[in-house]
Amino acid sequence: MCGIVGFTGRENATPIILDGLSKLEYRGYDSAGVVVYSDNKLKVTKCKGEVKELYKATDDGKALVGNIGLGHTRWATHGEPSDINAHPHLSNDEHIAVVHNGIIENYQKLRNMLEAQGFVFRSETDTEVAVDLIQYFYKGNILEAIAEATRRMEGSYALGVICDNDPDTLYAVRKESPLIVGKADGCNLFASDVTALIKYTRDIYYLDDGDIIAMTADDIKFYNSELQPIEKELSKIEWDISAAEKGGYEHFMFKEIMEQPEVIHKTLSPRIRDGRIVLDELTFSDEYLKNVNKLYIVACGSAYHVGIIAKYNIEKLTRIPVEVALASEFRYYSPILDENTLVICISQSGTTADTLAALREAKRLGAKVLSIVNVVGSFIAKEADCVLYTHAGPEIAVATTKGYSTQLAVTYLLGLYLADLKGTVTKEEYSRLLSELEKLPEQMQKVIDNKEHIQYLASLYFNNDDIFFIGRNLDYAITLEGSLKLKEISYIHSEAYAAGELKHGTISLVERGDEHKKGTLVISIATYLELLEKTRSNVEEVRSRGAEILTVTSPEGFETMEKVSDNVITIPSAEQMYTPSLAVVALQLFSYYMALLRGCSIDKPRNLAKSVTVE
Ligand code: G6P
Repeated sequence: MCGIVGFTGRENATPIILDGLSKLEYRGYDSAGVVVYSDNKLKVTKCKGEVKELYKATDDGKALVGNIGLGHTRWATHGEPSDINAHPHLSNDEHIAVVHNGIIENYQKLRNMLEAQGFVFRSETDTEVAVDLIQYFYKGNILEAIAEATRRMEGSYALGVICDNDPDTLYAVRKESPLIVGKADGCNLFASDVTALIKYTRDIYYLDDGDIIAMTADDIKFYNSELQPIEKELSKIEWDISAAEKGGYEHFMFKEIMEQPEVIHKTLSPRIRDGRIVLDELTFSDEYLKNVNKLYIVACGSAYHVGIIAKYNIEKLTRIPVEVALASEFRYYSPILDENTLVICISQSGTTADTLAALREAKRLGAKVLSIVNVVGSFIAKEADCVLYTHAGPEIAVATTKGYSTQLAVTYLLGLYLADLKGTVTKEEYSRLLSELEKLPEQMQKVIDNKEHIQYLASLYFNNDDIFFIGRNLDYAITLEGSLKLKEISYIHSEAYAAGELKHGTISLVERGDEHKKGTLVISIATYLELLEKTRSNVEEVRSRGAEILTVTSPEGFETMEKVSDNVITIPSAEQMYTPSLAVVALQLFSYYMALLRGCSIDKPRNLAKSVTVE
């Protein structure tokens, strides 16, 4: 959601800012804008729609020339997507410009106060309050005005600020909204995430809540909220620029699906040594972990679905009760936690507002928090007591694929690790499960190698309007993700059901086909062998009411399921607890091809954001 880029150097800032904004497009947005200091004033170009409109409006940046400036992609919260509501916003006196991510919760109160002082508002945004509040406090020192203004702002913000009385310096301040600073040769930058900076530098500073920076082309000064100078540690970004580029693929999503065997290997292999799981990052004492008597997994979206699979597996392996909660619910329902509860927050981006708030609530209630996060140095990583990083690399497509799969892989490791520690798994079983886990990348590759068949099946079904997914146990957990993936990118209505539950109401939606149209498509996931016959009976129930059946199963389930299915996708044989990792790849590919055939915007589906920084 919303993206910020700030640049100061010796060359024209506009093309660099536009390039940075295009790297942030994946976060989700509906308008964009840029401001540069040029000819002794602040010049703004902004519009509803995509960054390519800004390229056009500025003649690829050539018509807006200045060495210092700010850019923004806005995902509307206060006020519809429009030219006026797009950022940057200028102060009433037009001497200050601001771009903003986050939400200023007390903006109405501040706006009333400013209006009483004679300020006139042009937009419906909360951001305009920020820029006018800075003007209100400006008495010749912009840094002080920013500090004064932010002291009065409640909520979350990352602000980029430029003032024409101080035209060589860009300012930024952040609270609960990401902002990363890049130190380069002869220029400096800041942005909402690394993808916008990596082309220029790998030397990065992470900011803490309340930090303020003053940045010229050659210098970056850091201050705390009291304006005392502070030191920051420089970090190096490890991954290569190609990781954030399409590399010949038509879509990031497809590229990221293809990368899964490799990133699963990267996530697992450093943590498996001499036949044992070694989790150096898990700094809790063994004694604490042995005494954990309840796990809470808290997350949003696909990461929540990972939690549901983890619940089935970890409960089975360790006999520790596991509750899975949506972060947006958990943070408000007074969860029952104590010092023997371990809360696990799962998040690809590490910035999801509800997950972060849930993490803080869990800590406040006395629980310890472990996070499973992809983005290094993100809030959810930093604020947890320990973090297990997934090594998915940058994920650009809004619909997560490799992020999800690497999270799942970490939960396998964690479940086995805890089972070993608690002695709920024999040494032989531990070793067997671990060596089976190491086969996962190879097995995933086999699912990918079957992509032409999956593409063919998508060609049979892409005109469907309603699709139901059913499964039991782990297969039910995977239907949730399969259905979400399909909805997100193909815009087909779909629902996921525990196979035994469909007949309690929803089966009334199953329709028979006729000579022009197939019956309602039901996708059955049937890899959970213990319950295969039960799933088959549920499939029979819908089939006898006219449903078309597409089944995802393993070689072991093929014979049972093939007879009741119109089409089958067979995934490789694997240890039962890991089959979700294979089934999900088949479902990701199916959704991808369905969306492709329907001509959808695969990497940036309508209305969605990659990183959801509002609650
Ligand atoms: C957004 C994304 C989803 C993601 C969810 C949680 O809605 O579009 O793909 O699963 O946020 O994101 P996180 O970064 O916390 O895993």
